[in-house]
Amino acid sequence: MGDVLIVGGTGGIGLELARHFVRRGRAVVLTGRQADAAAKVTAGLDGPGTARAIDLDLAEPGTLAATLNDVGELDRLALVAVERDRNTVAAYDHERANRLTTLKLVGYTEVVRVLAPRLTVDASVLLFGGAARERPYPGSTTVSIVNAGIAGMVAARVNAIHPGAVADTPYWADGGALLDAIAQRTLTGRAPHPETGREALYLASPYVTHVNDVSRAEGRAILDLLYRHIETTEFSYRHQWRVGDLVVWDNRCTQHLAVADYFPQERLMHRMNIAGDRPR
Ligand SMILES: NC(=O)c1ccc[n+]([C@@H]2O[C@H](COP(=O)([O-])OP(=O)(O)OC[C@H]3O[C@@H](n4cnc5c(N)ncnc54)[C@H](OP(=O)(O)O)[C@@H]3O)[C@@H](O)[C@H]2O)c1
Repeated sequence: MGDVLIVGGTGGIGLELARHFVRRGRAVVLTGRQADAAAKVTAGLDGPGTARAIDLDLAEPGTLAATLNDVGELDRLALVAVERDRNTVAAYDHERANRLTTLKLVGYTEVVRVLAPRLTVDASVLLFGGAARERPYPGSTTVSIVNAGIAGMVAARVNAIHPGAVADTPYWADGGALLDAIAQRTLTGRAPHPETGREALYLASPYVTHVNDVSRAEGRAILDLLYRHIETTEFSYRHQWRVGDLVVWDNRCTQHLAVADYFPQERLMHRMNIAGDRPR
């Protein structure tokens, strides 16, 4: 078994990962940009594992090979680092954009290149993108671009995680107001789906009676159009039941229908609802 390296382990999700692995008795190396701050973070980690810190700057890819010189064999490599960049096209700060693009695309790739020979045969590489790649928000110009780039970098044995803007992570801890502002800019005025970050229309024909601010006839036509779209075959899944089957679906973005094609047999159903976020 090799060590665990978390690039960007001094805060947020990276720090949570570090805590997790130290609690599980693993030898963790985490990085930040400042040696003393990173060392302070490792000193605060509790558990049977060990932690040490190294300082590196992903926006300086030419320095990475030397900095990573004393990292040994690894079986977990997580690239989590990000530098927050609220950049819009209208007020484009290209220096910041260059830093973030270099950090996440060139820097991540260079770390993987340097460490590839030190990965054990069952090692995993985990890259962090973000749902901004498909759900841009004001100020996410560069973030959306680099997160799309992360999706493009993923190949065999590399995992990418794309946390969404509604993810329960420290960056959004000030949460409510920021999310409400994002929600107000969506078509529906609602927060996106908590896991995929995608916008969904919460529609169900027996419950939706009309569309505000248009005539009944126009509202009916809009709803019919949407219902027909939902029922398109390419979005449908039909389950062929076998004895012992258990089916779980995400009711926040799925409609279900029991096809009444079993007469004269009876249908015995055990149904369980799992609590989740309330659509807003
Ligand atoms: N939080 C969210 O809701 C969310 C949403 C979508 C995507 N994500 C993605 O998930 C990942 C983690 O997000 P987070 O919110 O946990 O991040 P975070 O709290 O801001 O932590 C960022 C980490 O990156 C390090 N870092 C910053 N600039 C660096 C640089 N130039 N070189 C090397 N390290 C650097 C920081 O270390 P120092 O400051 O000590 O240098 C810190 O350890 C990111 O890749 C982010 O894009 C997060």
